[in-house]
Amino acid sequence: MNILGIESSCDETSFAIYNEHNGILANILYSQIKLHQPYGGVIPELAARDHIRALIPLLNQALAEAQLTRQDLHGIAFTAGPGLIGAVLTGAMFARTLALALEIPAIEIHHLEAHLLAPLLEAEKPSLPFLALLVSGGHTQLIAVNRLGEYKIVGETLDDAAGEAFDKTAKLLGLPYPGGAPLAALAEKGVSGRFIFPRPMLNKPNLDFSFSGLKTAALTAIRSFPTLDEQTRADIAKGFEEAVIETLVVKTLKAAKSLGFSSIVIAGGVGANKLLRESLKNAAEKQNISVHYPRLSYCTDNGAMVAYAGYLRLKAGQASPLEVNVRSRWDITSLSTIV
Ligand code: KG4
Ligand code: ZN
Repeated sequence: MNILGIESSCDETSFAIYNEHNGILANILYSQIKLHQPYGGVIPELAARDHIRALIPLLNQALAEAQLTRQDLHGIAFTAGPGLIGAVLTGAMFARTLALALEIPAIEIHHLEAHLLAPLLEAEKPSLPFLALLVSGGHTQLIAVNRLGEYKIVGETLDDAAGEAFDKTAKLLGLPYPGGAPLAALAEKGVSGRFIFPRPMLNKPNLDFSFSGLKTAALTAIRSFPTLDEQTRADIAKGFEEAVIETLVVKTLKAAKSLGFSSIVIAGGVGANKLLRESLKNAAEKQNISVHYPRLSYCTDNGAMVAYAGYLRLKAGQASPLEVNVRSRWDITSLSTIV
């Protein structure tokens, strides 16, 4: 069975093909970052228009790389939300129409569920149940996963998402959008301990996060210098990154221990952060908790995770109806179990 996966929820268009025996055969990504960079963030209308330009060439590239034709496809999975509605709609309409023309099923996929299942594409898969730390540009959630499709949010951010905090602080430091990866690269040149930012909510008994104060703390530090030299910028980036990552690590371990999980999954764009991957793994292993994360290209937005989630749902007989349902907001706890 070959499932095509289409991702178009934000500023990346991606087409991938998952084969039930051989795994991912192709994962083609086109990033719109350069288009949005002059504006310092994603412009939804430009994003939607640019997706339209990329859809057909990316489909052809994915098929060529997988050495398949359209007739070899057995289902088409597409991100139906949450995301920028115009952007989601382009991929959804394309997917639905192509599926109709090829007389194969289409499967609506929840973007965050796709992120969350991405670690299952790796050889060393987490076994169920697991606790997922979902950290993307728009979400920071701790999700208890007892069965596939059955998600319980046990903690989440009360304000900014971790990725959003990275992006906003990066902007303050004069780094391009999206700022997570450039900020992490700058932090590598920074000295640890020169700037110590607060670790928000660490002393609260619940499992929630708050990152908006941290961005303000970084702003206060930046403003305390008439001009920022390169080392100071790097030191602030370091202090900021350490504060966000320590908060994520401590809260995630607290959640795993208090809820009895021996397996943790990191998913979403911020999951590409090296410090997060290393520190959560080191801290968890000391407590006999295993940590799983996907390769970098499956952390940030990609079609592979959508194709895989589609495969799981199609195998469970869950093709979607003919109408196109897209959602800018979509509660992950409302999904049906994959059996
Ligand atoms: O999952 P994703 O690709 O898109 C959403 O669904 O939001 O996540 C994008 C977010 C952005 O905020 C980006 O700055 C952040 O992930 N990100 C990182 C790193 N790479 C991407 N944040 C910290 N460190 C990184 N290495
Ligand atoms: Zn995403």
